[in-house]
Amino acid sequence: MIGIAKYYPAFRSTMVRGAFLAALLATVSCASAQSFTGKWAGSQRTLANGESDLIILQLTQTGDQVTGTIKTLSFQGNISGTATGTHLQLMSPRNPQRPFATGDLVGTDLHMTMRRRDLVLKPATAADDIQAPAYIAPPALKKIASNGLAKTPPMGWNSWNLFADKIDDATVRQIADAMITSGMRDAGYIYVNIDDTWEGTRDAQGNIRTNPKFPDMKALADYVHSKGLKLGIYSSPGPRTCGSYPGSYGHEKQDADTFAAWGIDYLKYDWCSAATIYKPEQLQPVYQVMGEALQQTGRPIVFSLCEYGLGHVEQWGPDVDGNLWRTTDDIRDDWTSMIGNAHRQTATAPYAGPGHWNDPDMLEVGNGHMTTAEYQTHMGLWSLLAAPLLAGNDIRSMAQDTKNILLNREVIAIDQDPLGKQATPIAQSAESETWLKPLAQGGVAVGVINLSDAPRELSVRAADLKLPALPARAHNLWTHKDVVFTNGVYSETVPSHGMLLLRVDPHAN
Ligand code: GLA
Repeated sequence: MIGIAKYYPAFRSTMVRGAFLAALLATVSCASAQSFTGKWAGSQRTLANGESDLIILQLTQTGDQVTGTIKTLSFQGNISGTATGTHLQLMSPRNPQRPFATGDLVGTDLHMTMRRRDLVLKPATAADDIQAPAYIAPPALKKIASNGLAKTPPMGWNSWNLFADKIDDATVRQIADAMITSGMRDAGYIYVNIDDTWEGTRDAQGNIRTNPKFPDMKALADYVHSKGLKLGIYSSPGPRTCGSYPGSYGHEKQDADTFAAWGIDYLKYDWCSAATIYKPEQLQPVYQVMGEALQQTGRPIVFSLCEYGLGHVEQWGPDVDGNLWRTTDDIRDDWTSMIGNAHRQTATAPYAGPGHWNDPDMLEVGNGHMTTAEYQTHMGLWSLLAAPLLAGNDIRSMAQDTKNILLNREVIAIDQDPLGKQATPIAQSAESETWLKPLAQGGVAVGVINLSDAPRELSVRAADLKLPALPARAHNLWTHKDVVFTNGVYSETVPSHGMLLLRVDPHAN
């Protein structure tokens, strides 16, 4: 109840709380012993801006099957699961195959573990609800002129993959310092991007404020700029971000102006709770609102669309002045997720080019759950795919292996090649796959990935490279040595999930 009292200030009054408790007792029978049927409310946690991250489950149990709805500040959807006595297993509302939460009836309460967090839900009253704000019709479509930014894929760092909500001003400053001492800035990683959880509440005029983790965003931007770096921030076109913080819904122009006044250089704009208001067909006009607002600030701000590949974004992203757009769901620090996101890039390849890029999500290199070979493949693939290179690890304490991968200038040069072509697969089998990226000045980069669980000899055939003449030599981008095609073939033993990565110049005879 504490959470609810925080979210609904009215509950702070003793009288109202008394009435609420009476109503609550009356509803306890709803969620009778041994049954999960009923409406349950609680707080997932207290957000860094002091608000309560409310959750409401409306469940119906029939036999051992449980169905219902889930509402949080940022999400609404259907949910289903299984009851075993007083134990409940709920599946993900986004993916009914994936376990999402467990719960146990304890007295009149439902004790849950959800996304590794423990929370107590209480029987709710009819008054407990999360209301969507009034609908704001999106504008008619129009084409927003290009901001001229991101001629090559953006490079930098983002806080989300490693720090999630544990990011603050001091950490961002330390990361900025480390971007210089580690050599990341000089290798091209310029943007230092704060992801979700910086948001405070809005003031009486509706201006967004930071929460106490970020006491002074303008001062932080000044600091980051003083290091020769640029500062990025995050918001949502919905009323709430994915982390339940206030989004820009209805405040787009005001927020764009605030970001510009703070000195922000990059905005990641995450669909999140906009899905509770708009349909996927409305993505374009909704993103257009912020694209235009950013443009009207007069400040060059890279516009990163984060919509998980929904709504054929690649077809209209440039029209809303998007510089990059997510083409996949969130990456995780594991092989299956990483390679899966890369595979989903194939269909959108023709839409990448200078100023506007497909985004298979941020890098996980150095976060600890893949092998060195897998992280090499991650970096090599992202570069072949002309993907944004946004490191997601702790730059302050990088292992040498991680540095070798992220700071490999020859691989970075493939990503940043001015032609801006995205690689496509030219051969695929269960054991290996080959990706080819045309480069400016007529050369190519070619990567062959060992998909199997054991080391394997992998080959590149000179004739497959679509060059004007058969090349005799190539350059190995991991060993930095030239290699020779023998009878038109170059072969090398590659570890499990590793990648052979070559650059071949057009006249390498
Ligand atoms: C979504 C995005 C992630 C991250 C989180 C923050 O899941 O896809 O990249 O920004 O939201 O809440």
